[in-house]
Amino acid sequence: MGTLCHLKWLKKTLVSDFHTWWKLQATNTTGKQVPRIYVTRQIPPDGMKILHQSRLCHIEQWDSEDPVPRSELLKKVAGIQGLYCLLTEKIDAEVLDAAGPSLKVVSTMSVGYDHISLQELKKRGIRLGYTPDVLTEAVAELTVALLLAASRRLLEAAEKAKTGGWGTWKPLWMCGHGLTDSTVGILGLGRIGVAVATRLKPFGVKRFLYTDMSARPEVATSIPADSVTVDELARLSDFIVVCCALTPETQGICNKSLFSQMKDTAIFVNTSRGGVVNQDDLYQALVNGQIAAAGLDVTEPEPLPTDHPLFKLKNCVVLPHIASATVSTRNAMAALAANNLLAGLRGEAMEKEVPL
Ligand SMILES: NC(=O)c1ccc[n+]([C@@H]2O[C@H](COP(=O)([O-])OP(=O)(O)OC[C@H]3O[C@@H](n4cnc5c(N)ncnc54)[C@H](O)[C@@H]3O)[C@@H](O)[C@H]2O)c1
Repeated sequence: MGTLCHLKWLKKTLVSDFHTWWKLQATNTTGKQVPRIYVTRQIPPDGMKILHQSRLCHIEQWDSEDPVPRSELLKKVAGIQGLYCLLTEKIDAEVLDAAGPSLKVVSTMSVGYDHISLQELKKRGIRLGYTPDVLTEAVAELTVALLLAASRRLLEAAEKAKTGGWGTWKPLWMCGHGLTDSTVGILGLGRIGVAVATRLKPFGVKRFLYTDMSARPEVATSIPADSVTVDELARLSDFIVVCCALTPETQGICNKSLFSQMKDTAIFVNTSRGGVVNQDDLYQALVNGQIAAAGLDVTEPEPLPTDHPLFKLKNCVVLPHIASATVSTRNAMAALAANNLLAGLRGEAMEKEVPL
């Protein structure tokens, strides 16, 4: 046998051995072939338990607290039927092509799905599960905490207390802005926006305003909140809380134009996605005293580099995307994403599916 023929034979044998091995991997205890899924991270135990106990699929996982490298993701998705991902994975044509025609369902452990190309999923007939509702309360709670931290200067004051800057009680020192008798503007009155408003009401807020794609009287009346334009929201609000989804329309919607119309005593809070804010414009607004303070749970990029100018400002509180981070919420998200994935694999209705 010539060297070339030998190499061809070797390649054929190896490929066929690999396929046999792979088929063996993807069978359950009864010897039945089961779908293969890839889980892109270590996820909370409730989610993993559901996937394992279903015995419906062969699970491969990126068993780490850190995101799967892109090259590894592209390799691992080849031939899978289901993909369980997080918001850190960009699911685009490249990933879907690497997965191939076997991929039937993507399930993301997040309510936001701006990291996923819906158009590419639709083109390929792939279904998408997500995790709304189960995180609404936790995110709303953190949004209120962030608003108070920024408006009442909590981090700045705690730092002073710790580092000898306390001095004595001073009438004009560390004064911030309170919620009593204030006007709160919500940008995006969805599930989280409504939950934030509901939590802020008992603080004595005088008026709620909101801007959405169109008026949402069915939810607004329960607060109650008045529908206004973005410009009115900017001009009239003492607090602006951003709760909209990141879409091509909301990308950079919080920019120079918005900040320049806001009151110089106003507080800006964002727990949606970093992409809705033009961070250079926000920095200028904070430095120039156009607005009083900001609280951000989300930034662009994430993590925000430690030498980023926003970290140098006393009037900007930056958190590392922790709005849904309670133990029970993360477990509920993981479980819902697992159930969505399994339902998708079975060809059944998902508990929470994004209509494509
Ligand atoms: N920081 C975090 O950890 C965290 C956690 C959960 C959700 N989120 C973000 O919060 C977002 C909202 O979640 P939700 O469950 O309330 O979703 P939702 O769909 O119920 O609410 C989003 C709202 O934004 C509105 N909106 C869309 N485009 C708009 C526009 N151009 N102008 C004004 N409003 C617009 C929608 O109409 C909707 O009312 C998610 O998309 C996600 O990005 C962040």
